[in-house]
Amino acid sequence: MTTLLIVDDEKSTRDGLRMALEDEFDCYLASSIKEAMSILKSEPIDLMLTDLRLAGDSGMDLLDQALAIPQPPVAVMMTAYGSVDTAVEAMRRGAWNFVTKPLNLDEVELLLKRALRSRSLEKDKLRLEHEVQELRVKAGNSKHGLESLIGKSAAMQKVSELVTQVAPTRATILIEGESGTGKELVAHAIHQLSGRPLEKMLVVNCAALSPQLLESELFGHEKGAFTGAAQKRIGRFEQANGGTIFLDEIGEIDQATQVKLLRVLSERTIERVGSNQPIKVDVRVITASNKNLRELVSKGDFREDLFFRLNVVRVLMPTLREREEDIVILAQAFLREFSSENNKKLKPLSDDALAMLRAYSWPGNVRELRTAIEHGVVMSNEDVISSQHLPYFLNSADPLPVARDDQSAPAAEQKAQKEEIPLASGEEFNLHVLELRAIRQALKQTSNNRTEAARLLGISRRTLQRKLKDLEHSA
Ligand SMILES: Nc1ncnc2c1ncn2[C@@H]1O[C@H](COP(=O)(O)OP(=O)(O)OP(=O)(O)O)[C@@H](O)[C@H]1O
Ligand SMILES: [Mg+2]
Repeated sequence: MTTLLIVDDEKSTRDGLRMALEDEFDCYLASSIKEAMSILKSEPIDLMLTDLRLAGDSGMDLLDQALAIPQPPVAVMMTAYGSVDTAVEAMRRGAWNFVTKPLNLDEVELLLKRALRSRSLEKDKLRLEHEVQELRVKAGNSKHGLESLIGKSAAMQKVSELVTQVAPTRATILIEGESGTGKELVAHAIHQLSGRPLEKMLVVNCAALSPQLLESELFGHEKGAFTGAAQKRIGRFEQANGGTIFLDEIGEIDQATQVKLLRVLSERTIERVGSNQPIKVDVRVITASNKNLRELVSKGDFREDLFFRLNVVRVLMPTLREREEDIVILAQAFLREFSSENNKKLKPLSDDALAMLRAYSWPGNVRELRTAIEHGVVMSNEDVISSQHLPYFLNSADPLPVARDDQSAPAAEQKAQKEEIPLASGEEFNLHVLELRAIRQALKQTSNNRTEAARLLGISRRTLQRKLKDLEHSA
């Protein structure tokens, strides 16, 4: 029978819990840290249910001590209703979950059973996963592990350490950082190192769907739940059961979906749209945002209780500007990648190209660097890749505006737009138009010197001639 250690300084609570749980568990009782530790050291305890307040002692200290023994129990913390902060702190310290007082005994029993199941599943799978991981490493195929995160800077090392530490837990993780800093890459790394690499990781971009579609994407719906719901649909949470769900751009979700998400995180159940049947799900949740969620909370745009649930561990991705020493390392890696992808000889970057890469401010971060290097690899027909093969805007004081959500973006965008040639009225905003616009701008900048303009654009003079013909035709 499963062993359960109940720790509470109130006798009535201990006895009540024992009565409710002794059919399912072999119960041990303790009223202090000292008693609890002596039981833990002498008996093989599977589960521990402990109160936060223990006459004079803190349940947090017990947690630290209990989880430090060689075969630690799975710990569930009891806290007073409404003290979400302490509950979160307990989970940070390694508690598997928490329940709030006054206790609902059915809920406690259910939670303990789930705790146990998650642990025995974990054990069963460990050996298998270990083998799989080894095979992957042998096959050089662990594409999304930590090794995919390039960078030697202190800032990146900090990220790697944090990821290594939290990945094997089931803790909910919030990844924040500017666009292109590698949030999604880190989410994949966390999943890979989670000890459940066989399970799926599903990605949902919360900004890409309307509130109603997002809700049914996440939770599924019953047939006929709303107009257009012709078939029953299983949502992403159900599909990801046992694995990980990555909710990208979490700051974009509407209030109603926030409430539903809160429920998933606190009760670990979902309801399909159009049904009130709760369905249990066991899913690791990772979220990402390029907005500062805490700020959204203070503005009233994001629920604070949900924020606490999501922010159990926060990974803040450094911008590329903050880790200049990584620029060249990343550039070299992308160089190898794109040379082999395009069947081109691996060429070095010239000194002026390197200087240009170092001097640029990289508002689009690693993604922008990656694109710039791809451009260089494709454009160079010489034995080196020099500055003239890199995108022209790297040379300009004003970088091209990139879609960013932080406060600094609008100002930068306005400024850049002022200096751009505006679209003639009636012109469409499509790739063709953008291309023509870039050509006009390059010609203007070079006082119509076509050779110079072609160099700026990173294309050959012949291509520019051809494109100018198009321009004349469409004018
Ligand atoms: N440390 C890194 N090492 C190698 N490649 C990286 C690194 N960081 C980011 N990249 C690459 O940069 C690109 C952008 O990364 P990613 O999509 O993870 O960024 P993001 O933070 O999710 O951006 P967004 O907020 O725009 O969604 C990807 O091609 C990714 O592989
Ligand atoms: Mg992303």
